[in-house]
Parts: sequence; C-alpha cells; structure tokens
Amino acid sequence: MTDRYAVIGHPIAHSKSPAIHAAFAAQTAQDLSYEALLAPLDGFAAAVAQFRAQGGRGMNITVPFKEEAFRMANRLTERAKLAQAVNTLSFEDGEIKGDNTDGVGLVRDLEQLGCQLAGARVLLLGAGGAVRGVVAPLLQTGVSRLFIANRTVERAEKLIGDFADFFAYEMPDTLAAGGWQEAADAPYDVVINATSASLSDEAPPLPAGLYAQGSLAYDMVYGRGLTAYLKQARDQGAARLADGLGMLVEQAAEAFALWRGVRPDTAAVRDTLRAALPPLV
Ligand code: ATR
Repeated sequence: MTDRYAVIGHPIAHSKSPAIHAAFAAQTAQDLSYEALLAPLDGFAAAVAQFRAQGGRGMNITVPFKEEAFRMANRLTERAKLAQAVNTLSFEDGEIKGDNTDGVGLVRDLEQLGCQLAGARVLLLGAGGAVRGVVAPLLQTGVSRLFIANRTVERAEKLIGDFADFFAYEMPDTLAAGGWQEAADAPYDVVINATSASLSDEAPPLPAGLYAQGSLAYDMVYGRGLTAYLKQARDQGAARLADGLGMLVEQAAEAFALWRGVRPDTAAVRDTLRAALPPLV
C-alpha cells in the first residue's frame, strides 16, 4: 500500500515540497504519495488528526504552524526542543513524534557551498523562529563565533540566554548577541539573513566591514532573485551570494531519510528547481 505524507501550512499553494518529495521517492523507488494540505488558521490540530486517521504516516509543517506542531507532539527530538518548533511529524506506534530538520538543512547546504564551518565566524541576522531553529546545529559544527544581531536587541539577547543555558559547558565564549552596530566588531566568514525583511524587499541597515575575504552572504528566502539583502551584501564586499533553496531541499532530504530510512541525492533535485528560478545576479 502507498504510504501517505503531506506538507501542511497556510498558505500552501506555492509549496515546492510535493515536487521535492516526489523526486526523492522516484529516485529511491519508495512507494509513497506526498500532498499539500491547506489548514485554516484555527484548524491545524483538526487537519493533522484527520490526516492521521486516514492513515497518514508523516507531515512537514510550514508557516505558521511550527510552534503549534511543537506543542502537539508527544515525543520530541533534542533539536526540536531547542528550536521550540517542529517542521517534521512522524506518526508511529500510536505516537506523534516531532523533529526539526531546518537547522541541519542549513548546515548541509552551507557545507555543500564549500563553507568550512568549524572555526568559522558566523553572523546570524534576526531573532525569530527561523533563527531559533538553526542556532544549535550551527554551534554543533564548531563555529568559533556566532553573533546574533537583531533590530530588537532584547529579543536577540533573550534568545542567546536560552541557548547559553544549554551550551554553557562546552561553548563558553562563542555565542553573543546585539544590534546591527555591535555586529561590526569583527569580520565574518558567513553572514546569514534570517529576518523576514526580504519578504518586503528591505535589507537590515548593516554597518560596513562585516564581510571577511572570501565570505559568503546567505539569504534564507529563495525564489526572489537578488534580494535587497543580497544586493547590499554584494555592495559591501561579500565574495559569494546564496539563497535558501538548498536549505529547503536539504531539510526535506533529512525528513525523507527520517521517514523512509534512505537518504536521497539532493543535487539533481536542487538543480532542477534552480533552473526555474530567477538568477542571483
Ligand atoms: P520568523 O519565524 O520568520 O523568524 P518572526 O518570528 O516574525 O519570523 O521574526 C522575524 C524576524 O525578522 C525578527 O528578527 C524581526 O526583527 P524584530 O525582532 O526586531 O521584529 C526581523 N525583521 C522583520 N522585518 C524586518 C526589517 N524590515 N528589518 C530588519 N529586521 C526585520
């Protein structure tokens, strides 16, 4: 029997997840279906319950339901607990298991882009859910510095407080937070924009001098060509630019591996999606 999976969100019509998982399934000869489900804003729990009752095996969760999925799961992985958000649910043994594959998706994409994360100086812009999901996986790569800069400074400080409690033993001085200006203390090898500013075609007002030689500027959004942030990064001296398409494909691959026990090859899927998007120039 064909196993059913879905991505659930609001909105959902433009999700690329069904195409990505269909490509993974074809490549690995897995017998599964993967659909996109639109849940009403107040109807997430009911939609999940219905999908489960119909025999669904797992779901990916997208905006705005990741925190609700976190609260719904009755078993959580460590990385989901740290993220306080769930993007992958598995329905097994009568349980709802929650995981978060966003952070590992970002790390894998950065590695594929040639970043040596161990020892790297990393600047993370933003302090919302998108940042919370990637802090622990970035720290675990052994970065030498992770500075979290945000428009609302207190929010960044609160966020690192939560992680410092967890990582205090192994990571004494790595993690710091502040406003845009404080970020200028050091140059960075990788700068990641995880604010939602790109969605309104704005860029955070970053000071000059952030980009080290050979540095990468990464915008977590994708499909918008050269965003205001990437344009600013190019003008401020970033050596390389990347968007979040690779992260999207890698987080999907991690969810697929979790559900099916086989790891798909991401490069071909990413290249096919890339060919249909506006270029980053
Ligand atoms: P997400 O789940 O996508 O992270 P969020 O929790 O609403 O969404 O967080 C949005 C992030 O983008 C926040 O860090 C926000 O900054 P504030 O904490 O100061 O609100 C940031 N952000 C949104 N619009 C921005 C803009 N125009 N310039 C800079 N930062 C912006």
